[in-house]
Amino acid sequence: MNGEIYIWPSLLAGDFGRLEESALKAQEAGADALHLDIMDGHFVPNLSMGPDVVKMARRCLNIPLSVHLMLSRPDQFAEVFIKAGATTLTIHVESSCDVLGTLRHIRALGAIPGVAINPETPFEALLPFLGEVDEVLCMTVHPGLGGQKFMPEVLPKIAAIRRAARPQPGRERGGDAILDITVDGGIDLNTVTCVAEAGANIMVSGSALFKSKTMAQDLRQMREKARAVFGKNAAG
Ligand code: DX5
Ligand code: ZN
Repeated sequence: MNGEIYIWPSLLAGDFGRLEESALKAQEAGADALHLDIMDGHFVPNLSMGPDVVKMARRCLNIPLSVHLMLSRPDQFAEVFIKAGATTLTIHVESSCDVLGTLRHIRALGAIPGVAINPETPFEALLPFLGEVDEVLCMTVHPGLGGQKFMPEVLPKIAAIRRAARPQPGRERGGDAILDITVDGGIDLNTVTCVAEAGANIMVSGSALFKSKTMAQDLRQMREKARAVFGKNAAG
């Protein structure tokens, strides 16, 4: 929320036989938060993990937990994931619920609300929610699977969000706070540069970090690369 760069490894790329070890590995490598992907087999054609995995992560880590709900009805599960330990709870703008009401409910329950947007959904779909959230998560792959190829066609949308989110006095969200823009999908040491240039300041990275033999070093390098170019191509 201050324009700082954050790196959030995604546990989806961890070892599902040793999830606790994978979570700890990310924290020890210097993760700013752990990202957990929740799927319902309906909003996306895959299933992943549930609230017990979030509870496990809350028990063994002391960094924040970013919980990304890829669910048709995130409103029905917000409370259970917040009770499990979610720090930020991100729901999709395309989900089949009262998105505004659910974001407000998430904040009222004490978590930080975020809104996620799929690659093909236009920027305008976010407009009703920009004043209500601390984070916009831009999918840079189709949600549902790790290890996919980054979609560069999302870059103009990231820049448009960064422009729209310029601090404006008197905004409901609190004056001069800077909106966090997260990118999720195909982020590695190469793609990090263009997303940071476009104005993203939070990098979710699954396969690239977990499959690396030098996770801590790569994580640091990802942060440095993003810092060096953040917002360079967001103007316009
Ligand atoms: C995809 C998930 C992502 C995923 C990213 O639906 O939202 O968080 O873990 O994985 P990579 O970095 O491998 O593309
Ligand atoms: Zn995710």
